[in-house]
Amino acid sequence: MNHVFPKDFLWGAATASYQIEGATTEGGRGATIWDVFSDTPGKVLNGDTGDVACNHYHLYREDVGLMAQLGLQAYRFSIAWSRILPNGTGTVNEAGLDFYSRLVDALLEKDITPYITLYHWDLPQTLQDTGGWANRATVDAFTNYAEIVARRLGDRVNDWITHNEPWVVAFLGNELGIHAPGLKDLRTATQVGHNLLVSHGMAVRALRSCLKPEAQIGITLNLTHFEAATDSVTDRAAAARQDGYINRWFLDPLFKGAYPADMWELFGSDVPTVADGDFDLITEPIDFLGINYYSRGVIADDPNGGVLKTRSEFPEGEYTEMNWEVYPEGLYQLLTNVQNNYNPPALYITENGAAFADEVSADGQVHDERRTAYLQSHFAAAHRAIEDGAKLKGYFVWSLMDNFEWAWGYTRRFGITYVDYTTQKRTLKDSALWYRSVIQENGF
Ligand code: FCB
Repeated sequence: MNHVFPKDFLWGAATASYQIEGATTEGGRGATIWDVFSDTPGKVLNGDTGDVACNHYHLYREDVGLMAQLGLQAYRFSIAWSRILPNGTGTVNEAGLDFYSRLVDALLEKDITPYITLYHWDLPQTLQDTGGWANRATVDAFTNYAEIVARRLGDRVNDWITHNEPWVVAFLGNELGIHAPGLKDLRTATQVGHNLLVSHGMAVRALRSCLKPEAQIGITLNLTHFEAATDSVTDRAAAARQDGYINRWFLDPLFKGAYPADMWELFGSDVPTVADGDFDLITEPIDFLGINYYSRGVIADDPNGGVLKTRSEFPEGEYTEMNWEVYPEGLYQLLTNVQNNYNPPALYITENGAAFADEVSADGQVHDERRTAYLQSHFAAAHRAIEDGAKLKGYFVWSLMDNFEWAWGYTRRFGITYVDYTTQKRTLKDSALWYRSVIQENGF
């Protein structure tokens, strides 16, 4: 074996509630912004919705069985806030808590460690109706929700992630309008981003007060390694702006207690309102940083390129179905840069994977050798980063199974398990079988 991982390295896979659960009107679940968004014509490709998705709400036992077959050591999933509090606040829906409690028990029975994400984008619609994350009241609602879940599951769950990818929530949802709630306003986006960070800090405090002392709490960011398209001063400055927008705008507040000055200036009158004490909350110590990594960005200066005046370029190379370049070196660069510049106590890759146009072959199998190659090259990059000092403790492949890929509906398959959406039959892809051997041997 060329790549042996540290003892206790944790191998897992990840999913998110709206992408897999279905049963959107069952078990007392309230509507979310993604239900409303995907019901709005033109927002999601082919008019797809999460109404059925992978029907995981009903098939969760079978899915835990798959995980056990794979030898997964950990499973990262998210909780649908509106199953717990159908209106975001107020009455608790016991049936929702029971569902996740049963899921946790099923995982523990198979020795799979649950990693819970509290917010993976499915805000209760009633909260959006009063302004969503742009309204500071949503911060309190989230803290209350986090505490309710922790009190119910904290006896068995040690590992908690407050938010998944606040950049996507804030900017893709509120500046670019590509995700729910589909708004197009930069000022709203920066306020949403800020309130998400404050809610993270408040939730960390609330969780600490009711979880066991050994509980591990973190946040997951979508981070990209950016490079300048050329060596020119202008392109290099453009790449720095893009890095500021996606990476530093969230990393700096969390680890340095301030927004990056260059971006604050660039956003001008669109910067968020910051209350006294907010940075004390945002910098509340965490136990780990989760990183979702998919690709690099190659950035050029472009006067017509929106607020940032940048443009992405697409050099020769291999691209996935998302048109994301396969670039494992970017993962190495990112892990070592984040470790050196921010010194988080521990790192997890909470998502990494690739979408390809998979098909079931005549032999009934899915021969996704490109996904296996993608994972192998990224595991190798992570391994090298560990050798060079990154405190990487575990790796969650995105995703356990094909699922609802947001604005792309069911057209983008990220799973290591193939899902036939007509029959709900699951088939482990070749990449899953390969991953099983990596887990068994703790390397490859
Ligand atoms: C990330 C999301 C995840 C999935 C992958 C492909 O941004 O967190 O839900 O959609 O991208």
